[in-house]
Formats: sequence, structure tokens, C-alpha cells
Amino acid sequence: MPTRSLLSWFATLAVAQAISRSITSPNFTGLSEPNATLSAGKHATCVTGFVPIYAAASNTNFLFSGPANNFEATDIFIRYTQANSTIVEDLTGSLTPVNGTFNIFSKLCYPSKSTTPPTTVQILTHGGTLDYTYWDIAPNNSYVDAAAMEGSATFSYDRLGTGLSTRPDPIQVVQMAIQVDILHTLAQALRTGRFGGHRFDKVVGVGHSIGAALSQGVTRLYPEDFEAVILSGHSTSFADAIVGAIGTGMQIANMDPSGRFTGLANGYFSLGSSISAHQFAFYKYPHFDLNIFNSQRAISQCNIFGELWTLAQVYVPAPAFTGPVDIVNGQNDFFYCRGDCTYPVNEAALALSTFYPAASNGSQVFLVPNTGHNINAHFGASEAFNHILKFRPCNERREERGEDVVGFAKFEGFILQLS
Ligand SMILES: *[C@@H]1O[C@H](CO)[C@@H](O)[C@H](O)[C@H]1NC(C)=O
Ligand SMILES: *[C@@H]1O[C@H](CO)[C@@H](O)[C@H](O)[C@H]1NC(C)=O
Ligand SMILES: *[C@@H]1O[C@H](CO)[C@@H](O)[C@H](O)[C@H]1NC(C)=O
Ligand SMILES: *[C@@H]1O[C@H](CO)[C@@H](O)[C@H](O)[C@H]1NC(C)=O
Ligand SMILES: *[C@@H]1O[C@H](CO)[C@@H](O)[C@H](O)[C@H]1NC(C)=O
Ligand SMILES: *[C@@H]1O[C@H](CO)[C@@H](O)[C@H](O)[C@H]1NC(C)=O
Repeated sequence: MPTRSLLSWFATLAVAQAISRSITSPNFTGLSEPNATLSAGKHATCVTGFVPIYAAASNTNFLFSGPANNFEATDIFIRYTQANSTIVEDLTGSLTPVNGTFNIFSKLCYPSKSTTPPTTVQILTHGGTLDYTYWDIAPNNSYVDAAAMEGSATFSYDRLGTGLSTRPDPIQVVQMAIQVDILHTLAQALRTGRFGGHRFDKVVGVGHSIGAALSQGVTRLYPEDFEAVILSGHSTSFADAIVGAIGTGMQIANMDPSGRFTGLANGYFSLGSSISAHQFAFYKYPHFDLNIFNSQRAISQCNIFGELWTLAQVYVPAPAFTGPVDIVNGQNDFFYCRGDCTYPVNEAALALSTFYPAASNGSQVFLVPNTGHNINAHFGASEAFNHILKFRPCNERREERGEDVVGFAKFEGFILQLS
């Protein structure tokens, strides 16, 4: 088949070159305070704005109102990390229904070179201490661009409690259960055409770290929501994440000297100002651009008490999900592999078999060499994206639709996956 595929690729190329392509004018349906913008590498044309999302969940009532000062905060983390800690159990009350309508800051991006909107959208959920910009850091570090070059639309957003989205009670409200419900609602909304005036046929769940856990949580409760999932910074040994979280030098965010978190309730924790606090859990030195490290450090977001203490609720298998799964970790991920994802076994492969016993053929795993937890911020990002581009569920419809492949950077990868 390679020869036929190659010929058809050239046919597509010829068609693409014959047509002058441009994005149709942006459609702001469903977004308030809308803006139009380009992705970092300009391969995607995006609309941003706020979407009101009603969510309801059974949250956990924590018998705790937040630390009064940084000494108490630090003591809580010591008691959380200490040998045979029972603090989570001690402070856990009953399940409590929580609901609300939250303003979620969102960014919907289309391939700049497409004449018609794609039928597939990838919904991108960022990790802890990050925000929606994690997916579009710089031209060489943009998943949004990589996806656009492969013909896919992306929808990224600030998770509840982060960035420009509503930042409610960090203990009783911002928890895994309600975050899962928000992601589920967003996936439904993309299918029904609530945003951008365009209805998507297929939704792929893409998550990093806490975002991976949330995407997994959706596949467990709503296995029909995603055609496929791509999870990065993800493993079965999330207990290591406690050590990673401690490494961030957490402090009560509203006392952060930067003044960026004034007014937030105690229970939002910003990262320490040292290099170590930002590097320890997230980066493998020297495999990243210092400018990117510094800009990420400058915009870092909070750890949130209610999320940290309900993490375990979503690291459970999703046996009813039968779509393809791709698990991608930095090989030197500290947060989820204590610095070595090959030890004692391939942690990505273990996560795949443990969490997704019914995953379909075509599922795959990848460890990105010389890369820490925050993959997209490393030099290894392009290798990770190249791997993901070969994941058929994301791009198999591309050639069938005769879409533009001129801008496709990974020529070899594309041919490989066709043959
Ligand atoms: C939208 O763009 C305007 C003008 O550039 C800017 O002032 C505003 O902050 C942007 N709003 C959002 C929500 O990004
Ligand atoms: C501490 O935990 C270990 C393993 O979970 C257990 O074997 C041990 O009995 C515990 N010790 C105490 C004092 O509870
Ligand atoms: C939402 O929460 C309020 C209490 O905050 C409760 O009275 C109401 O019944 C809840 N609504 C739903 C639909 O669960
Ligand atoms: C982006 O990657 C290309 C190809 O590897 C390289 O030539 C270029 O210098 C990189 N740009 C930046 C800003 O790092
Ligand atoms: C946006 O899309 C909707 C649904 O297709 C359509 O009704 C509306 O006219 C569009 N708005 C603009 C400004 O194109
Ligand atoms: C998975 O793929 C293998 C090899 O391509 C094939 O033999 C097998 O039947 C497939 N299994 C399912 C469930 O499709």
C-alpha cells in the first residue's frame, strides 16, 4: 500500500496547492468578551472568550477551612507527606452535592489553512500550576500548532480555579469531581455546536497531569464522550506526586510577593520564587530553553487544596472505555515516575494496561527522552508531538477529506502512518 498512499498524498498536495486557502472570518457564537488570535506558530486561527458552564457533582466535605498562615500551611503539607499519614482521612467528611455556573476561559482554534472546519476537535486540559497557554507556549512548543498542521481543531481552557476562569472556594468546590463534570459538559457542548457556531463529530480528550487524570475521569463515567484519549504526565504511581508537590515550595497564594493572587482564598497555593521550586518537579535540566522556563515561571498558577486532596478519586481504571489510548510521559518525569519512567517497568505502558483494560487496537505509549514532567516546555516537545501525530484517531480522516497537507512538518511520520 505505500506506493498508493504516496501517490494519493501527492494528489492531495497538488489539489492543496491549486486552491488558495484562507480561514473564514471567526465566529464568536457562545463566547463572551471574544477575541480573535493566532497560535504561536500561526498555523491555527483561534477565538477566545468566556463560556458559562453549569456543573454539579458529589464533592467531598473537608473538615478544614484553610491554613491561617504559612506555618500552618507548611505543617499541613508535612503531615500530608509524613510516614503513615492519616491526615486526609482525618479531615474527610461526607460526600456533599455541589453545583454552580462557572465562567470558563476558553480558546477554540482551527487550522489556518483549512477552508472548512475540521470534524474532529481535541479538548486540551492543562495540569496543575499551569494554565491554557501550556498548549501554545511558543512556535516550537505548541501542541495547538502541531494539531493544526495535522488538520485538527483544538479547544483549550483554564480549569476551574485557574487563570482567567472562576476561582471559587479552593477546598469545598475546586475538586476532581466537579472538574470532571465541567470537562464532560465542555465535550458535549463541542458536539452540539455551542461554541464557534460549529458542531464537531468527534472529540478527542487530551490532558496533561491533573488534566490527564480528569480526562481519564471522564472516560470512566462517560465512555462515549471521547473517541480517543491522549494522556501525558500520567502513571499509576501518583503517590510520587505528593513529593513533587512539596518540591514546589508552596505558600498561601494571596501572600505571594508578586501580588498576582491577591484576594484568593487560603487554599490556593502559589509556587516558591526559587528556581528549584519551578524546576524540581517539572523540568529535566538542561533540556529546555531558559527563556521558556523563565516565561513559564512568571505565569505559573496555583496548586489547589481541593484538587490535591481528591486526586486519588480519579486515578482509577476506566474499563468501559474501548477507544484508543495514547500515554506519553517525559522519560525523566519526576512527578509521576520519581525521575525515571523506565523503572521498575515502563510506567506509561503500566498506566495503559492498568487504567484502560479495554483500550482498542492502535493504543500506544511513548517515553520522551531527556524530558521532564512538563513535556511541552522541553526541547523534546516536538518529538512528543511527532509521536502523537502518528496516533491514527487524530488524523486518519485527514487524507479522506483531501485536506491541505502542505504545512505538515512531519513528512516522514505522515507517510509512515499511511502505509
Ligand atoms: C480582548 O482583546 C482586547 C483588546 O485587545 C483586550 O483588551 C482584552 O483584554 C481581551 N479580552 C480577553 C478576555 O482576552
Ligand atoms: C505504617 O504503614 C505500614 C505500611 O503501610 C504498615 O505496615 C505499618 O504497620 C504502619 N505503622 C503504623 C505504626 O501504623
Ligand atoms: C445546587 O446546590 C444548591 C445548594 O447550594 C441546592 O439547593 C440545589 O438543590 C442544587 N441543585 C441541584 C440541581 O443539584
Ligand atoms: C525551532 O526549531 C527549529 C528546528 O529545530 C530551529 O531551527 C529553531 O532555532 C527553533 N527556534 C527556536 C526559537 O528555538
Ligand atoms: C456563527 O455560526 C452560527 C451557526 O452556524 C450561525 O448561525 C451564525 O450566523 C454564525 N455567525 C457569524 C458571525 O458568522
Ligand atoms: C488487533 O490487531 C491485531 C494485529 O493487527 C489483530 O490480529 C487483532 O485481531 C486486533 N484485535 C482487535 C480486537 O481488533
